[in-house]
Amino acid sequence: MLLDDRNFTRYISKHEIDVAVQDIAQRLNRDYAGKKVVLVTVLKGAFVFAADLIRHLTFDNEIEFVRLSSYGKGRTSSGTVTVLQDIHTDIRGKHVLILEEIIDSGRTLKFLRDRLEASGPESVEIVTLLDKSAKRVVEVPVKYVGRPIDDQFLVGYGLDLEERARNLPDVYYLKYPN
Ligand code: IMP
Ligand code: MG
Repeated sequence: MLLDDRNFTRYISKHEIDVAVQDIAQRLNRDYAGKKVVLVTVLKGAFVFAADLIRHLTFDNEIEFVRLSSYGKGRTSSGTVTVLQDIHTDIRGKHVLILEEIIDSGRTLKFLRDRLEASGPESVEIVTLLDKSAKRVVEVPVKYVGRPIDDQFLVGYGLDLEERARNLPDVYYLKYPN
């Protein structure tokens, strides 16, 4: 697959993603049965994952969105996180699940987790489809992981290269050096 003359190779198929999403949903359905949960989706990247995941959930839930900036337009994390769009519900005393499509340095989720914890929820856990654990620079507990991945730059299934390619049903990696 070519995007701006850069060569992308398929890494995770649509089918493999489906299996990982269903596996996460099964674990959540077991752990949150009978509970009321606020799902906090991290825009923009996690919107595709969230849309697929929520259709497999059997517990009571409401969905919220946050938009944070950490990457900007580049391909490396800038280190500072700011809130561009906040959630619009009171999470005090509620169970919260953060939905993310990929964790890299962990800075974004550490920031968001600490921020949500400060509002006094009953619990906060992180759900991520993909985990680039080799790239972690800050420690953040991640309870639900769909699939561990190597340190590669990925696009598709919500993941972007300068805002493009989020629509691809499969996940691709960028072949270095081009
Ligand atoms: P972190 O704060 O370094 O963990 O960055 C997490 C955010 O960076 C994710 O929410 C993604 O939006 C973005 N990101 C991390 N790795 C990739 C990648 O391989 N492709 C596209 N976006 C990525
Ligand atoms: Mg992104």
